[in-house]
Amino acid sequence: MKKRVFSGIKPTGDVHIGRYLGAIRHWVSMQDDYDNIFCIVDMHAITVPQDPRVLNAKIREFAGLLLAAGIDPERSIVFMQSHVSAHAELAWILNCFIPMGWMYRMTQFKEKAEKEKEQVSVGLFDYPSLMAADILLYKTDAVPVGEDQKQHVELARDAAQRFNNIYGETFVLPEPLIPDVGARIMGLDDPTKKMSGSEMGAGHSINLLDSPDMIRSKIMKATTDSRRDILFDESRPGIFNLLTIYETITGEERKDIEAKFEGKGYSDFKEALAETVTECLRPLQERYRELTAEPGRIDSILKEGAAKARPIAEKMLAEVKKKVGLG
Ligand code: AMP
Ligand code: TRP
Repeated sequence: MKKRVFSGIKPTGDVHIGRYLGAIRHWVSMQDDYDNIFCIVDMHAITVPQDPRVLNAKIREFAGLLLAAGIDPERSIVFMQSHVSAHAELAWILNCFIPMGWMYRMTQFKEKAEKEKEQVSVGLFDYPSLMAADILLYKTDAVPVGEDQKQHVELARDAAQRFNNIYGETFVLPEPLIPDVGARIMGLDDPTKKMSGSEMGAGHSINLLDSPDMIRSKIMKATTDSRRDILFDESRPGIFNLLTIYETITGEERKDIEAKFEGKGYSDFKEALAETVTECLRPLQERYRELTAEPGRIDSILKEGAAKARPIAEKMLAEVKKKVGLG
């Protein structure tokens, strides 16, 4: 029996290379060794206000990009969270077992809530419980995510453990799987902030559907420092981030990359990086165009995905309800 992998992506903003290099690319390469489930977490998206038409289009765009990146619907399940109602139901049950104290410790919520204070939704606070439900419904062994999501996966694990302690062996305890390289790609305009999908300026992120000209222009304008040597030096976040992107895509050793650009200037390196990123995205963009040229194709893949996910989730939910004494 292969181990099960579950991961989710929130269909908001753009799919940028941070999400691609930090998550999606790893999901693609895990397909041979694991039994995979990938979820477009649309119910997580509505924890903050969304324009319904935009959200609807984004769900398809994200699904299309996952497929174009190499997620194979014959080998992996790809589906939308809201298509399988067991996610919301288990989240409610878990709500009743997760202490407030655990939730108060979630750093992502604290950061997001700082700006809007009491206007943030209850859903945003409860986000980790829904995420725990996503993971636990499928007896997930491993959850490949970027570093920022580690705390949420640990909360899912703690919730599973607590439930098991009370009701006996029910949930599998999931482990986060964090990639070594590319775990944190930073913004091109401000390399001290994580590259993020929403509400950022035009020069912040490289998106998977950007044209070669856009990619080049964003990279050439990326913030660096006034030095000129091209070295992996964490105290120089701009060049360090660009080098990390180069390293993650090419898979070359740091010392080889430094040797390759020795004596060259930032603009030579940036040109090379723009070329590398463009070539990395070219086949993906072609597959995306093919997929979207066929109306209804993505919707039918998502529907089939939900039909495969639903029975697995419902079986787990029934077991949980029975143990708790519901129904
Ligand atoms: P999100 O963008 O929050 O929906 O995240 C989707 C997945 O991509 C998660 O596993 C994140 O940890 C990962 N991810 C998002 N942004 C980045 C980034 N800038 N660098 C690396 N990984 C990221
Ligand atoms: N919270 C994750 C993120 O922002 C997305 C997500 C939702 C997820 N449910 C999940 C990731 C379950 C892994 C497993 O990136």
